[in-house]
Amino acid sequence: MSELHNLCHFEKRPITIEEYVDPIKAYLKQGIPATYTVEEAYNYEHNISEEDSKFAGNTTPMHLICENVPLDCTEDEKNVVLEMMNQLWLNGAGWCLVNDKDETPGCILLRRGLHGSKYWDSCVDSGVRAEVLLRKLNDPNIEFLSDPEDEDMDVEIEDDIPELVTDEVNIKEEIEGKKEKSESKSDSVSELEDMYNGPAGATDTYLKTELEYKDGALITKDGSDGVMMQWEEELMKAGCDSLFKSIEDPKDINILNIGFGMGIIDTMIQKKNPTKHYICEAHPDVLKKLKKDGWYEKSNVVILEGKWQDTLPKLLTQGVFFDGIYYDTFSEHYEDMVEDLFDVIVGLLKPTGTFSFFNGLGADRLVCYEVYKKVVDLDLANYGLSVKFKEMNAPVTTLKENDGYDDSVWKEIKRAYWRCPVYYHPEASFM
Ligand SMILES: C[S@@+](CC[C@H](N)C(=O)[O-])C[C@H]1O[C@@H](n2cnc3c(N)ncnc32)[C@H](O)[C@@H]1O
Repeated sequence: MSELHNLCHFEKRPITIEEYVDPIKAYLKQGIPATYTVEEAYNYEHNISEEDSKFAGNTTPMHLICENVPLDCTEDEKNVVLEMMNQLWLNGAGWCLVNDKDETPGCILLRRGLHGSKYWDSCVDSGVRAEVLLRKLNDPNIEFLSDPEDEDMDVEIEDDIPELVTDEVNIKEEIEGKKEKSESKSDSVSELEDMYNGPAGATDTYLKTELEYKDGALITKDGSDGVMMQWEEELMKAGCDSLFKSIEDPKDINILNIGFGMGIIDTMIQKKNPTKHYICEAHPDVLKKLKKDGWYEKSNVVILEGKWQDTLPKLLTQGVFFDGIYYDTFSEHYEDMVEDLFDVIVGLLKPTGTFSFFNGLGADRLVCYEVYKKVVDLDLANYGLSVKFKEMNAPVTTLKENDGYDDSVWKEIKRAYWRCPVYYHPEASFM
C-alpha cells in the first residue's frame, strides 16, 4: 500500500490539516493520480504487470476515506476530511468508480450509516459536477481552445456522454467501468452490453420486441425485461394526483400521458374524468391492448399512436395545451428527456400546468439517484421549470436483500431497475 493510501486510514488522531491535507496535496502535486488504486500499488510493489493483475476492483483513496473515516470525528476533523475529499475531487477522483464489492465511495458511506452526511453531499455534488461537465465536453457546439504547448499531452475524453436509461441503471457507464477494470470479467460485461443494446436500452429494438402481460407486469416475452410492474402503483397514484394539481379551468381539463404500459396511471386519470385525456403509445402490442380494453371507444380519450418524438411536435401546431403531462416510457435515455422531451413539454404545458414523470434515473444505486435528482433540477431550471420532489417509501420487495424471498418483485425479471428505499416523486411547474 502506498503512503497516500495509508493516509486514508486515519490512524493518527486528531485529524488535522498538517497531518492529512498537506501531505495529500503534496502527493497529488508529485503526480500521484487521485484515482491511484490499492490494487495498482500492490501490483507495482510486487512487479506485476497490468495484464497479469488478478484484481478486478478499483479501491481508490476516496473509497478508503469513505471506508475509514472515524464515526466519532469532531466538527474540525470532519472539515479536514472534507478538505481531503475536495483535493481528491479537484484532481479527478471518480464519484462512480466501483471497488471489488461493486461499491462507489457513496455506497460505502451508505453502508456505514453516513447517508445524508457532509461526506455524502460531497460525493453527490462531485457526481453532479462530473455529469454536467461530461455533457458539456461532448457537446458538439462547444469549442475547446488548446494551448499549443499542451497539444502533445495525451488527454483522452470519452467518446460519448454516459447516459442513463430513464428508468434504469447507467448501463453504459457500468459497461465502460467494468471493461476498464477487467477484460476477464467478460460475463458481466457482455450481460451489460446485451442490456444496453437490447430492448431495455435501445428503443428501436424494444419496439420490435414481443411483449406480454403476465402476473401483474408487462414484460418482454423472451428476455423477461420488466417494462412496467404493479409495484409502481403508489408511484403512479402520486403522478396522477400531480397532474390534477393546478387546473386552470375545471370545465376544460386536458391531460397527457406518455407511455401506456399497463394503463395504471391512465385508469387513475380516467377516474377523474378529464375533458380530454391524451395517451401517447408507440409499441404495437400495447396498442393492441388499448384496443382490446376499449380505450379507443372512450369519448374523452385521444390515442396518439407512435413515438412521442413523432406525435407530440404535431400537437404544438394545433394549439393544444395541457394542465398535466406525465412521462413514463421504456428503453429511453436521459438524453431523450433533456435534449428533446423538455423542449416539447414547455410548448405543450399551460402556464399553470404540472409536469411529472416516473423518476427512475439512476435508481439502482442511491448515490446515482441523488446525483440525477440534482441534475434534473438544474436541467429543468434551464427551461424555466422548478421541480419539487416528494419523498415516498419504495416497497421493500424491490430491495436487494429481499431477492431470495418469494415476494421479491424481481423473481422472474432479468434485471432489477429499482434498488432505492426512497422514491423522489417529481412535480415541475413554471417558476
Ligand atoms: C413503463 S411503461 C408505462 C407505464 C404506465 N405509466 C402505467 O401506469 O402503466 C412505458 C410505456 O412507454 C411506451 N413507450 C416507450 N417508448 C415510447 C416512445 N418513444 N413513445 C411513446 N411510448 C413509448 C412503452 O411501449 C410502454 O408501454
